[in-house]
Parts: sequence; structure tokens; C-alpha cells
Amino acid sequence: MTLLHASNAPAVSPADSLTIIRPDDWHVHLRDGAMMRGVLQHTASQFGRAIIMPNLKPPVTTTAQALAYREQIIAALPAGASFEPLMVLYLTNDTTADEISRARDSGVVHAVKLYPAGATTNSAAGVSDLGKCMPVLEAMQTQGMPLLVHGEVTDPGVDLFDREAVFIERVLQPLRRALPQLKIVFEHITTREAAQYVAEADGPIAATITAHHLLYNRNELFKGGMRPHYYCLPVLKRETHRLALVAAATSGNPRFFLGTDSAPHARALKENACGCAGCYTALHAMALYALAFERADALDRLEGFASRHGPAFYGLPVNTASITLVRRPWTIPAQLMIDDTSVVPLDAGMTLDWTLA
Ligand code: NCD
Ligand code: ZN
Repeated sequence: MTLLHASNAPAVSPADSLTIIRPDDWHVHLRDGAMMRGVLQHTASQFGRAIIMPNLKPPVTTTAQALAYREQIIAALPAGASFEPLMVLYLTNDTTADEISRARDSGVVHAVKLYPAGATTNSAAGVSDLGKCMPVLEAMQTQGMPLLVHGEVTDPGVDLFDREAVFIERVLQPLRRALPQLKIVFEHITTREAAQYVAEADGPIAATITAHHLLYNRNELFKGGMRPHYYCLPVLKRETHRLALVAAATSGNPRFFLGTDSAPHARALKENACGCAGCYTALHAMALYALAFERADALDRLEGFASRHGPAFYGLPVNTASITLVRRPWTIPAQLMIDDTSVVPLDAGMTLDWTLA
């Protein structure tokens, strides 16, 4: 909306509402049990669908488990909610090609997730030897089943801040040379190297980008003291990397799409001598993305990133409904009580410009 003003006012005022096709979240952690029942409404109120990460305890490694988890999620949806959970299998050294066929035939499993063992929260059962997975990955390539990768090496000799860039050379490039038609989503990218690789590589590859990696660099972790609610994996990087992610997300390139990586943890496990990795952003995800896109003067690109590029990559239709964000200040609560567990959302206590209408 453009408004004309009297002479000393700005000639153009920023739009005060934004209506876009209902978005999807292509990477979210809902957990299970009471936590899932508490956080699901936040995701379902903004997004039409979401790719549900399988790193539960124990992980979702079979189609049967994915179907049961999906039923739990659907049973917990608020009355009248229209939300479709897109299920994911957790790849292990022992996953079989038959399991991929079962997943494909189920119609509700949309991807398989590679966690290098030890890379992040609940990844202990992940892959320690990708070579063992080659028959499964070949089956995925043949069946058009996307592989979602947590793109970090776990080699303790590699600096934590370099683990994503090293993953591209040591794991991703060799894998893509071996299986050039395997659909891959490089999840929650955090570096210029990853953005550049995804933009330039041949073949079916895409990347998700979180709101927090668009908004913050690693200084945020240490502003005035250690701030555990800004700690996630892959960890926030330097400003040059944040700028490259903003450029990628707002470029209009369909290889980049929205994935919040919203990852709720109990406050006591975040504010801890060995705090868990993960930022809780499902509550206010679209307001955070709108802020990041507005700062880049690219609100007109938000719909592509949030609502169009993901379905195109996954071969799904775009949602038919829409959402409207309005420019109305809203203060993020200091904490959320989920059952009797406190969860602190990202930017708790701060005021956001945008609110979901
Ligand atoms: C995620 C979690 O808590 O499950 N944590 C995170 O920091 N992003 C796992 C993950 O996606 O790496
Ligand atoms: Zn994640």
C-alpha cells in the first residue's frame, strides 16, 4: 500500500499489511508428548504444512513409527485447524532400501534425514559411516525421495565454526558426484560457502534458511554475557555469512526456502552448564521472517521463499489459503508454560513490528 503524505512526511509509507499464500515450514522440531501438544498450535496457526524432524528419543526410523507419530500430531491439532504434517525418516547405518519403498508407498513420508552421528541434538543414532548407506541412498535417488542433510562434519579436529564448509567438501560433493540425481535439501544453512554451493551446483539441490540465521550473527551469543537462547546448531556465524544468507533468501532463487528449525527445549536445559542447542521460533516465525525480509527491503520476495519454492522442490501443490501479517507491535512473552515446563522463545521480551492477523 502506498500513501501520499503532506510535504514534510515521507512520500511513501511502508505497507502496513502483507497477504501471502499460506506458507509451509520445511524444517521443524515438534517433539512428542506434552511438548508437542503445546508447540503444535504455534506451527499450525501459521503454516499449512511442515516437514517434521524425526530426532525424537527414540528416533523415527521406520515408516510404521512415522505413521504412529503422524497420528499423534493429528490427534493434537486444535479443532478446525488445517495443517498437514509431512513425515521424515531418520537415517541410520541400518536403514534398508525396503524401508524406503515402504516410506514412499505410505504417501505420508516425504523425506529421509541424515544426521551425522553426534552432530546435534538426538543424533547419537545417526549415520557414522555414509558408505554403509549407499544402497539406501541409491534407492532414494531412484524413487525420488529427498535426502535432508544436517550439513556438518563431526571431526573434533575441525573448528566448530568451519564444520559446515568442510562438510561440503568432504561429504556433500562426493555424495553428489556418486548420486547426481538424488534430491538433497541442505538444511538450515549458515555460511556463505553453503549459500554459494547451493546456488551454483548442478542438479536437484535446495536449502532451508532459518529466521534466526537471517537476523543474527554470532555476536548475539555473547552480547553482555553468554546468551543460551541464541545457541543452536549449526551455530550462528560471522556477519559476512549472515549477509550471504539474506542475499540468498531474498534473491528469488527457488532453491532457497523457509525452514524455521524451531527446536523447543526446556528452559532449565538451555540455561545450563551444558546447554542444549536449539532456538524456539515457531511462536512468531512469520513475524521474524517478515522482519528479516523488510530489513533487506525485500518483503515482495517473502511469498516465494515462504510459500512457493518449497512445494516446487518437494513436488507438492502450493497451498490455496492465505495469511495476512499486519504491522502491529507485539511483545514476545518472556516464557511459555507448556504443561509445567518453561520454554523461552527467541527474542523473549522484545517487541516485533509484525503480527499475524
Ligand atoms: C535441533 C534440536 O534441538 O532438535 N537443534 C538445533 O540446534 N537446531 C537439532 C538440529 O536441527 O540440529
Ligand atoms: Zn533442526
